[in-house]
Amino acid sequence: MEIRKIAVIGAGTMGHGIAEICAIAGFYVSLNDVSEDILKNALSRISWSLEKLYEKKQIKEEPNQVLSRIKTTVNIKETLENADFMIEAVVEDLDVKKDVFSKADSIMPKHAILASNTSSLPISEIAEATQRKDKVIGTHFFNPPVLMKLVEIIKGKDTSEDTLKETLALCKKLDKEIVIVNKDIPGFIVNRILARVVNTACMLVYKGIATVEDIDAVLRYRLNFPMGVFEVSDYSGLDVFYFIHGIMTKRGFKARLCPILEEKFKNKEFGVKTGKGFYTYPAAGKYQKPEIPKEKATKLDPAIILALAINEAAYLLREGIATKSDIDKAVMLGLGYPKGIFRFADEFGIDRVVAAIERLKEITEEGIDPDPLLIKMMEQNKLGIKTNEGFYKY
Ligand code: CAA
Ligand code: NAD
Repeated sequence: MEIRKIAVIGAGTMGHGIAEICAIAGFYVSLNDVSEDILKNALSRISWSLEKLYEKKQIKEEPNQVLSRIKTTVNIKETLENADFMIEAVVEDLDVKKDVFSKADSIMPKHAILASNTSSLPISEIAEATQRKDKVIGTHFFNPPVLMKLVEIIKGKDTSEDTLKETLALCKKLDKEIVIVNKDIPGFIVNRILARVVNTACMLVYKGIATVEDIDAVLRYRLNFPMGVFEVSDYSGLDVFYFIHGIMTKRGFKARLCPILEEKFKNKEFGVKTGKGFYTYPAAGKYQKPEIPKEKATKLDPAIILALAINEAAYLLREGIATKSDIDKAVMLGLGYPKGIFRFADEFGIDRVVAAIERLKEITEEGIDPDPLLIKMMEQNKLGIKTNEGFYKY
């Protein structure tokens, strides 16, 4: 199949960036949203980004030339007709997504593939809205799509091998690296891990153990993360993390929503997009990197912030949802971590991670036990670097 035109539905944080990378790769893009104002704003964000990339010689073509391949419209029929591939990036709500997929199924040519950028919804549930479940797939990009290298690929239970092949070929043209999620589970790889970091960090603040800045300082300065976890939450949207949490817990992910996150959601403090979240920004939609004092980085043990994320990664590995190297690749390319989550575990020591999980059980009341894989590693004295073997050999 030759892909010429790509329809991108939803022009918010993710949709505008996905439209941009598709146009950079030479595709014609039809970008859709519910209002002309949103589309206008999306075009100006794309234009700003293209200028930045051009200045730094990261794209060869002039920004205006790239922009000329993107058409915007609020008319869904116009967006979808004649498109060979759809990437849906509307709000994280199953009903809204199903409505988009049902329309796409009736309007798009028979050969077209329908992909969702959902953060957490099982692809098989979205595919139910169509008569072409074999052509429905998950393509999970990361924010900002132009800078983050990763796409998680999720096969629904009816997704065909041909659909997978075509989608992988498209990701290659978009200059992306991929990891394949072997089972269609809510939150896939990265967001199950990230949700653990977000909720742990938020609960530590809620329980008065640390401040927002203490935690972000540890992550930024001691672990060399590109952003602290509260920074990332604000940057990508607290509303998105709230929706992800609800979707995952409804489908068996064991976690208690941090009350601060709930409060912020109710007050519409969504982060950068509304001008306030865990940090305050100059205006709605105007990003400015929060200032976090370096001296705060000594106030907390990094292992406690990542313990449940490591536990989740151990679960993903033990259940065969992804390989060890794909899980590590996913956090590095999707979240910009300087090393894989299993490398962090080996550095901390598995015994220290397990002790931190036990402590968190008392603090957070989430009731999460150490994963059987971690317990087995303890029994086998595979504690990480200090015993020459943990998740990796040294
Ligand atoms: N297009 C082009 N350039 C951009 C840009 C964009 N969209 N966004 C930022 N830049 C530019 C900046 O303007 C800056 O340029 P200058 O040096 O000329 O000022 C440059 O990129 C570097 O940016 P910053 O100085 O602001 O910050 P940085 O060095 O920390 O890099 C980053 C930015 C790549 C985003 C990095 O901070 C990072 O990797 N952060 C982690 C992001 C992350 O975790 N994303 C995933 C979120 S979760 C998710 O997406 C999944 C989900 O389902 C919720
Ligand atoms: P957003 O709120 O910034 O943008 C969503 C856009 O969808 C809005 O502009 C909204 O007007 C539009 N929309 C809603 N219903 C629509 C419809 N029926 N037709 C057309 N447009 C419609 O959200 P976002 O952060 O861009 O997230 C979009 C999707 O991508 C969600 O599924 C989210 O979970 C996922 N995602 C988000 C991130 C992130 O970091 N923000 C990362 C990866 C994936």
